[in-house]
Amino acid sequence: MNNIFKIANLNVRYNDTTPVVLHDISLNCKKYQSISLIGESGSGKTTLAKVIMGVLPPFSGSVNVFGKDIYSRDFHDIKTLRRRYQMIFQDSQAVFDPLMKIGKSLEEILYINNMRDDYSKRISKVLELVKLPENVLGKYISELSGGLRQRAGIARALLTEPEFLIADEPTSALDVSLQGMIIKLFQEIQKTATFMFITHDLALITHISEKVLVLYNGYAVEYGPTADVISKPRHPYTELLISAHRFRVGRKTTGINSPDTNCCPFVNYCKRKRKICEEVFPDLKTEENRSYRCHFPL
Ligand SMILES: Nc1ncnc2c1ncn2[C@@H]1O[C@H](COP(=O)(O)OP(=O)(O)O)[C@@H](O)[C@H]1O
Ligand code: SF4
Ligand SMILES: [Mg+2]
Repeated sequence: MNNIFKIANLNVRYNDTTPVVLHDISLNCKKYQSISLIGESGSGKTTLAKVIMGVLPPFSGSVNVFGKDIYSRDFHDIKTLRRRYQMIFQDSQAVFDPLMKIGKSLEEILYINNMRDDYSKRISKVLELVKLPENVLGKYISELSGGLRQRAGIARALLTEPEFLIADEPTSALDVSLQGMIIKLFQEIQKTATFMFITHDLALITHISEKVLVLYNGYAVEYGPTADVISKPRHPYTELLISAHRFRVGRKTTGINSPDTNCCPFVNYCKRKRKICEEVFPDLKTEENRSYRCHFPL
């Protein structure tokens, strides 16, 4: 079994009264193959991460993680499986109890995950990995600077020795020099774990991932090797994102259309559009190791 996860024809909404936020997404990630999800705010990146983490069931489609269909009726062991994969968040402060010292919080993670031997050895090991001094253990999360806080969040995620990590915008709250340090740290961790990196900044993913999935308004519009997608995007939205990364991170590139399967989801913003784009939802085209959803690719 070589897949870390395999998602097929996933459709997701938060509840019966809200719109569909992910449409027919299929994606798989092999061991040690790092993947990035990219798309502007609201495109569905975090939602996809929640589905993979086992906290948001899709209304159709399947989600296999480590070979287990995690939303099937006869699977009840997400807690045990979760020890093998963890999430790193943009705001690490939020994952720590503000009233508990960091050392105690880390011990608690080990306790919950039944890793009750060698507490201090395990904690020292992750602190060394993320290059945090031992004295942070006696501090509260609010006492740490932004860079140290993010390292503490990463240490927390690494404690259970996960094989797979999802990092959701892990550097977007940091200044440029700290971003570089965290990226270097991820490159180090990548030697022993598989990564899914979520960002709206294309510049970051070139250093960190082999494959990239471009999401627009809940649709997978382009997928392929990162270097190829960045140097020669086929979908007009990807091209727009690449030019957008030159302006400020976080700024919205387009707007969100109401879901309409009778046209291209990007039609209102596309300079290449022709009549058929307003009338026919584009099929997913696949060529060699790339795929994209556009009637008139670049
Ligand atoms: N808890 C929620 N309940 C209802 N809708 C949500 C919830 N969280 C996110 N959404 C909606 O789902 C869509 C995708 O959001 P999200 O996955 O957070 O995007 P991204 O991470 O790419 O910014 C957005 O339209 C957002 O408004
Ligand atoms: S299908 Fe048409 S509107 Fe959509 S991205 Fe391609 S050219 Fe643009
Ligand atoms: Mg998000």
